[in-house]
Amino acid sequence: MSNLIVNNLNKSFGDNKVLDNISFKVEDGKFLSLLGPSGCGKTTILRIINGLEYPDSGAVLVNGKDITKLSAEKRNIGMVFQNYALFPNMTIEKNIAYGLKLRKKSKAEIKEKVDWALKLVHLEGMEHRKTTMMSGGQQQRVALARALVIEPDILLLDEPLSALDRKIRSEMQYEIRNIQQKVGITTVFVTHDQEEALTMSDEIILINKGIIEQQSDPWNLYNHPVSAFASDFLGKANLLDAELINNGDNWLAKGNGWVFPLEYKSGKVGDKLTVAIRGEHFTIRLEPFENAQEFTVSKKIFSGPTCKIMGKLGEDKVELTCISLDAEKCEIGGKIYIMPPKVNVLYFVK
Ligand SMILES: Nc1ncnc2c1ncn2[C@@H]1O[C@H](COP(=O)(O)OP(=O)(O)O)[C@@H](O)[C@H]1O
Ligand SMILES: [Mg+2]
Repeated sequence: MSNLIVNNLNKSFGDNKVLDNISFKVEDGKFLSLLGPSGCGKTTILRIINGLEYPDSGAVLVNGKDITKLSAEKRNIGMVFQNYALFPNMTIEKNIAYGLKLRKKSKAEIKEKVDWALKLVHLEGMEHRKTTMMSGGQQQRVALARALVIEPDILLLDEPLSALDRKIRSEMQYEIRNIQQKVGITTVFVTHDQEEALTMSDEIILINKGIIEQQSDPWNLYNHPVSAFASDFLGKANLLDAELINNGDNWLAKGNGWVFPLEYKSGKVGDKLTVAIRGEHFTIRLEPFENAQEFTVSKKIFSGPTCKIMGKLGEDKVELTCISLDAEKCEIGGKIYIMPPKVNVLYFVK
């Protein structure tokens, strides 16, 4: 049973302010992802949590105890690094046992715990192999077993799947999540991959340039992004310049040669907006329909079940996503008619 609190972390490297007042809490047994583009400060947050780095100000608490100034060895935190960081000259068994030896555990206890960890990550029977003889996915399992065998309070994972190919990667996503739930360990997972974060997490913190942009569960983060950055980073929305108008009955976004009704949230007539509409939210038809706008198709990109249709909405370039069977009927250079439901026209007053 462990919870983690990170309070008002600030960190600069020289003039580069890398973390700006980062605060969050991970409840016992929960899986939290830190999501954001490369260089936004994710690894620095993990390094501060496990004691490889100290913040300029702020605190890290595990079960209410302030560990900010404790050295890394004195913290009971397991970490899996992006490049696995296994000892190449040691067997799998020795790699996994390493942390227990450092902690001066008895031989019998080490054997029992290593066996438990091997079974947990499905590497039973491979304990005498050298890690250099293993595939990337297997090496990642060893790294995970090595982190979990010390029975840490908190598990930290820094982009552990980024070196794996697509298929192994999605298998390992399920595997890591299963193991995490089985052990019930409080986990912070770092990734720049939005799909990975959406698939795996109980909660996601979206970070942009060292600042928390939004914290939410995956469903809410995807469907109710609070900023243009959030809507674009999660699922690549079309970001369009527009103006807020009202025609007496309805609020609308008027863009560069197009206009769509929207659900009013805030703002006044004439406000300049960034409108965010996801490609999959457009209703697409070959004939005109109510409130639909004309769209000129310039390109189609087939990717199996879905297809991207690129083209022009008024003066703006827009990307639509639809099932491939629908896309088949759209001709390059031809006109189609598109309309997003009101609730899917997200807008942010500039
Ligand atoms: N030890 C360091 N010395 C100087 N700059 C660093 C150091 N570690 C990280 N940085 C800088 O801090 C920023 C955030 O890095 P990092 O936390 O690794 O981001 P992320 O993991 O999100 O890609 C980057 O601009 C990086 O260059
Ligand atoms: Mg990193």
